[in-house]
Amino acid sequence: MKYTEMSAEQLKAEQECLSRKLDEYRNMKLCLNMARGKPGVDQLDLSMSMLDVMHSEVDYTDETGFDCRNYGKMDGIPSMKKMFAKMMQVSPEQVMVGGNSSLNMMFDTVAAFMYKSPVEGEKPWMEVKDRKFLCPVPGYDRHFGITEYFGFDMIPIPLNEDGPDMDLVEQLVSQNASVKGIWCIPKYSNPTGITYSDETVRRFARLKPKAKDFRIFWDDAYCIHDLTDTPDSLLSLMDECKKEGSEELPIVFASTSKITFPGSGVAALAAAGKNFDMLMEKYKYQTISFDKLNMLRHAKFFVNFDGVMDHMRKHRELLSPKFDLVVQKLEDSLKETGVISWNKPNGGYFVSVDVMQGTAKKVVQYCKEAGVELTGAGATYPYGKDPRDCNIRIAPSYPPIGELDTAMDVFCVAAKLAAAEKLMEE
Ligand SMILES: Cc1ncc(COP(=O)(O)O)c(C=O)c1O
Repeated sequence: MKYTEMSAEQLKAEQECLSRKLDEYRNMKLCLNMARGKPGVDQLDLSMSMLDVMHSEVDYTDETGFDCRNYGKMDGIPSMKKMFAKMMQVSPEQVMVGGNSSLNMMFDTVAAFMYKSPVEGEKPWMEVKDRKFLCPVPGYDRHFGITEYFGFDMIPIPLNEDGPDMDLVEQLVSQNASVKGIWCIPKYSNPTGITYSDETVRRFARLKPKAKDFRIFWDDAYCIHDLTDTPDSLLSLMDECKKEGSEELPIVFASTSKITFPGSGVAALAAAGKNFDMLMEKYKYQTISFDKLNMLRHAKFFVNFDGVMDHMRKHRELLSPKFDLVVQKLEDSLKETGVISWNKPNGGYFVSVDVMQGTAKKVVQYCKEAGVELTGAGATYPYGKDPRDCNIRIAPSYPPIGELDTAMDVFCVAAKLAAAEKLMEE
């Protein structure tokens, strides 16, 4: 029965029953974690043989004969440039393969624009006192952390099923020269799992920003992370920009963090024209070169892009039962309440749940008391403030499936209890 249709007595009975269940969980002294999108141990095991492809007898040169043990090749070895170009839907010469983290490259890119503009006549962002960044919500807390660190006013943009509200994006970008960028996770977005529609990608390519140094930070972290037989497809922003003559709008990012080893994988960015030149120039001062033995290790392990896709199918086999379980539990337990909704993603790392408005913090707290850790309520919004206090990001990948099962039972009880209590107050 829908919670909104329950009488006061029915709600009270429901609340008492849920409260007892939560107490039972509290007494179980659980220690479960659905907080961060980390690959499970079984997923990490998939890449262990990569550690064997490099040994003292191995050919340590890349396909051009370059000795990967030494300094040089600032933009990365050709095989990895090609591999990332396929992943990011750009051409290999636009790719710069970097270190172990794409987030690090995003931070560095914002830092570069803070200090120096690639566009003649534009001030470095540091000198733009009222600088602003558009933040589709719900979104990725660490993106928001970067722009908060660099002193941007962050403007939340509603994220719909087909991408950010493009009417609002176009209006803000075309009218306000202090709007300098937007964070985008175009495929299997973190946390809602949506993929931008073709029309959304085309509208991004057609943007006419007032600020000539406005940039689209296109974080394609989940570009090949499918979970179903009906994967989403994403149009290449770089191709669309080429058609529109706006190739300097996007900077694309990706990494193998959720393909091989997070923190020990390989990251890359792709950019065109002056963007690429400016970033390469900056990296020249920042480092003498990145870890090419790790690039070579990845290249040897995968052999080619088909090898990467085969590997992703193995991840999918391990991950999709976990996502199925989470969605099934939500359907079985929360659908009847009529006040809680969620997404069923075709890929990526998260399930985004909108609990009853005004209860997300309480749900996270109840889960914590019962030994289940979730991403903090509000984390998916700039400054950690969800104005409706309703969005919670569930990360099913890390816990073994048995633990996930129990953690989801706790979550469902907590979400229902908080909703019943809220309705009783009202
Ligand atoms: C959207 C998004 N971008 C970037 C990252 C981090 O990537 P990396 O490990 O390459 O820094 C994550 C990790 O969860 C993510 O969800």
